[in-house]
Amino acid sequence: MTRIFSGVKPTGHLTLGNYLGAVRRWAEVDQHRGEALFSVVDLHALTVEHDPARVRRLSRQAATLLLASGLDPEVCTLFVQSHVDEHTRLSYLLECTATDGELRRMIQYKEKSVRARDAGQGVRLSLLTYPVLMAADILAYGADEVPVGEDQTQHVELTRDLAVRFNQRYGHTFTVPRATRPAVAARVMDLQDPGSKMGKSHENGAGIVYLLDDADTVRRKVMRAVTDSGREVVYDRDVKPGLANLLDLMAAATGGNPEELAGVYESYGALKKDTADAVVELLRPVRERHAELAADPGYVDRVLRDGAERARGMARPLVDRAYRAIGLLPAV
Ligand code: TYM
Repeated sequence: MTRIFSGVKPTGHLTLGNYLGAVRRWAEVDQHRGEALFSVVDLHALTVEHDPARVRRLSRQAATLLLASGLDPEVCTLFVQSHVDEHTRLSYLLECTATDGELRRMIQYKEKSVRARDAGQGVRLSLLTYPVLMAADILAYGADEVPVGEDQTQHVELTRDLAVRFNQRYGHTFTVPRATRPAVAARVMDLQDPGSKMGKSHENGAGIVYLLDDADTVRRKVMRAVTDSGREVVYDRDVKPGLANLLDLMAAATGGNPEELAGVYESYGALKKDTADAVVELLRPVRERHAELAADPGYVDRVLRDGAERARGMARPLVDRAYRAIGLLPAV
């Protein structure tokens, strides 16, 4: 059976980008296609300046939102990364497989290390080794597929390289995984700055739709989206990135095709209004279900406890095998 693994890190409130690029597909398709594991990857939230209480709060909120989005604990395994030691155990072996050069080449490391330096903060060593921990997340479960948004492509490529290298050196141990991406909205852009990704840790919330924004806020953010000069509605990501982003959102929310939708609209205003309505309707059930689930934290705790236990059971034999393969003396 196909093994599927993916995760979301609790560095901020989940966004429409997370939902359309990853989470919605996990719920609608991936969890039903194979043996699927989804994780709130909290260790990854410690790679940049963080507030402990906030990370804890966001971890619970992310898990609740994943359930609210339709992940079914009877069908898939949902857990918090730090509850399963195998991730960090394996990460060290993969640090002994990766080189510093290949980690320094990672785009997200370059961007985030510059941001940390500009803010007068030190660059945590874990920011550099982050993709190795991500590789461990995936390889510990023998995942075949990793459903992610476009921004994670490079990290999944590194994961593949590390798996192949480890297997060549120490004997076949890991499945070599592949990234899968949604057909539309694999890269949702910031509504105020269509040149950059809609990201949960960005400063300016005006261009970011959060899953827990109320209907009025969502509508206002979409209606105020930056659009491009000219009046003609065409789908062109290079020339009209703001418009293309709206068409992508509209297509993703309604199951349409962005190029075809461009032909339907005669004005930016009409497109914005319909997109705002479509996004509000898309998120409404998630927000409602989140409110119900948040009222029952005991349920979420139970799901996470059972999920961690299942995840441990799957990861441990594989990670133990990797320990033996790399030359470590088994404990007796
Ligand atoms: P994270 O937490 O930044 O994002 C979670 C998922 O949402 C996708 N995504 C987007 N998709 C489309 N448009 C956007 N604007 C957008 N923003 C985010 C991401 O591609 C991702 O799929 N490193 C990962 C977390 C991680 C992980 C893993 C993922 C850790 N270990 C193992 C898969 C497998 C991250 O930072 O995702």
